[in-house]
Amino acid sequence: MNLHVFESYEEMSVNVAQCIIDLVKEKPDALICLPGGSTPLGTYRELVKAVQEGRVDFSRVTFVGLDEFVGLGREDEGSCQHFLFTEVYGPLGIKESQIHLFDAKASDLQAECRRIDELLFRRGPLDLILLGIGVNGHLGFNEPGVSFDSYCHVVDLDEVTKTVGQKYFKEPKQLSQGITLGIKHMLEARKVVLAANGPQKAEAVYQALRGEVTPSLPASVLQTHPNAHFYLDKAAYAKVEETR
Ligand code: PGA
Repeated sequence: MNLHVFESYEEMSVNVAQCIIDLVKEKPDALICLPGGSTPLGTYRELVKAVQEGRVDFSRVTFVGLDEFVGLGREDEGSCQHFLFTEVYGPLGIKESQIHLFDAKASDLQAECRRIDELLFRRGPLDLILLGIGVNGHLGFNEPGVSFDSYCHVVDLDEVTKTVGQKYFKEPKQLSQGITLGIKHMLEARKVVLAANGPQKAEAVYQALRGEVTPSLPASVLQTHPNAHFYLDKAAYAKVEETR
């Protein structure tokens, strides 16, 4: 596991963005998975700045979405897709033909899983997947107890995810299921970048890095990935630091 620790969230974000920029410079037609969530917001703002300054060109990149709350779509504020269109695809000028997201409102969600799986089998593996980590150690909606053998799947959300997920919505929201890329897509990715900031992530980061590899803490599986990188601010690194 490769650790990159920064003084601040801002510094972490600049460096995660640079890692994405470097990859796209090296491989302009890369296949990249980006997540929603609070963690990558600073990274996305840096990417927008880089595009405006002509430092990178995303016009040949293909984007895959990580996950979505079942029943929510692009027009629903708080959904992953709403966030990605507002903060990433829109400001970066990404064309619809470059974007592949789950339709979490589809009547046949299994068919949605197959559609994204097939895309990844055909075009993949992912050149880079950016991930956050849940306070329960989840990756995307790969919740505690998930099989490490899973590709795309529909999942009953963990209670922690339902509670913490309220932060994305203006009004209380009934959240019950998610649709997500599976752990196997992550393990098959050429490069995994997990970003985490703030004291609320310190325990999950510690378990992911120093605990046993177990489905109870899904992010621990990244210990088995040959090219996984954790980008952390000091607060998220605190417990690892303490126990060195
Ligand atoms: P966050 O979500 O970036 O909003 O903290 C991360 C996650 O739950 O995976």
